[in-house]
Amino acid sequence: MKRYVLGIDIGTSGTKTILVDEQGRVAAAQTIEYPMETPKPGWTQQDPADWWQATVETIRKVLSKADVPAESIAGIGLSGQMHGMVALDAENNVVRPAILWNDQRTEAQCAEITEEAGGLDALLKLTNNRMLTGYTGGKILWMREEEPENFARTRVIFNPKDYVRFMLTGEIATEVSDASGTGLFDVKERQWSGELMDKLGLDRSLFPKCYESYEVAGHVTREVAALTGLREGLPVTAGGGDAVIQTTGQGLVRQGVLGVVIGTSGVVAMGLDGYKENKGGDLQVFCNNAKHLWHAMGVTLAAGGSYHWYRDALCAGEMAEAARTGRNVYDIMGEEAEKVQPGCGGLLFLPYLQGERCPHNDSDARGVFYGLGLEHGKGAMTRAVMEGVTFSLRDVSEKIYAMDASIKPEKVILSGGGAMSPLWRQIVADVFNLPVVTVSGSGEGGAYGAALVAGVGVGIWKDLQEACGLLVEETCTLPKAENVEIYNKVYALYDKLYLALKGTFGELSALK
Ligand code: XUL
Repeated sequence: MKRYVLGIDIGTSGTKTILVDEQGRVAAAQTIEYPMETPKPGWTQQDPADWWQATVETIRKVLSKADVPAESIAGIGLSGQMHGMVALDAENNVVRPAILWNDQRTEAQCAEITEEAGGLDALLKLTNNRMLTGYTGGKILWMREEEPENFARTRVIFNPKDYVRFMLTGEIATEVSDASGTGLFDVKERQWSGELMDKLGLDRSLFPKCYESYEVAGHVTREVAALTGLREGLPVTAGGGDAVIQTTGQGLVRQGVLGVVIGTSGVVAMGLDGYKENKGGDLQVFCNNAKHLWHAMGVTLAAGGSYHWYRDALCAGEMAEAARTGRNVYDIMGEEAEKVQPGCGGLLFLPYLQGERCPHNDSDARGVFYGLGLEHGKGAMTRAVMEGVTFSLRDVSEKIYAMDASIKPEKVILSGGGAMSPLWRQIVADVFNLPVVTVSGSGEGGAYGAALVAGVGVGIWKDLQEACGLLVEETCTLPKAENVEIYNKVYALYDKLYLALKGTFGELSALK
């Protein structure tokens, strides 16, 4: 009998469930969306019951679409939005709405944690990560300070996909990649940092047993089997945080392969074949889904977001043409940009429209067109935006290479909306001076990685290397030597611009 695995991704806008066969092909997929509450500016919350309902419904839909016997499904893998705080009481009821990864209420608590740890260097020694406002650690202290009655009732703290595992299996557990993103985890030893918890006065018993991603961490209960059509006792593997497990699903399972996502934000990531220090804390360094791997990544906040802003602010003509002709507006914009030479005749763009996270952690930074002259037309501005975003992605990659001399980049696996543009793929190849490939399955996000990790956990594939061997290369773009040379020069200037403008960004912010 042909075997399948289910991958479930508990995302921020919805839950996606996919059924993947032994050849790595997606047999059926279903997404169900849910809302995000913003009770105050900068606050974001969700009701875990919405995740569970969407999980049940997407499983049912996928099973009915694929029409495969329940016995042919060998396991379930979980992926989820990282860093969200789910708190359960002594009866395993949810204490309050989950506070999400993009919530910004915890600046004071993050500063407090850094201080209690003994400063940034001491914190990095314990966890290898800064305590970012998105991380779970600050949210726990916020609840202790602002909602003491909720904190007093709390017996368990874990992340969104762990809540779904609890509902599927009754088991309270987490795994190393999501635990890394709490900021309370000893990423080097792949275990909780009891030392940091003690310094913060947090009871160690609040944090559940932590598995490796591929380990079985529970089995589907009889009630859930009746509710969904799954078989009772089906193994549920531990899974992973989406930012990590989606790179596994794209084949980032050995050092040297760089994953670049041009979505709204831009992510650059690499699997590391051993623990490496996150000097200065500029990157996010987590445990990866294979036991011998770690994961380094950095995020530039406005990647596709810059291009989207540019389209809305300055491309009304192109949008009207797209509406008139039924063509894709990005194809129309790309045609003009393609006529312009690399480097745009001295026009540069800094993509800091929302401030920046990596490598410049600076909320005051802002976007810049630099070097505009009478000779520059629309195509040059369009191309400059694509190039500027790509320089920012290169900035992050340079931080990853600088972690250790053993890191030798070989190729880029590109995904996200930007990967659909042949011009952008060429710009990435030329700016990184690396072959750029796109692979099957990457459109499925974390759910695909979760399915592959589950398949390894239940023995369909020997290891993640074998599972990722099923990925099909869809496009391959090679760097052009003459463009690489131009971009190296322009990138050197690009890199000076942030430093030159840094002081003025603070002044600009004070003017508002
Ligand atoms: C990772 C991060 C996001 C969330 C949302 O650090 O903040 O990728 O996991 O999906």
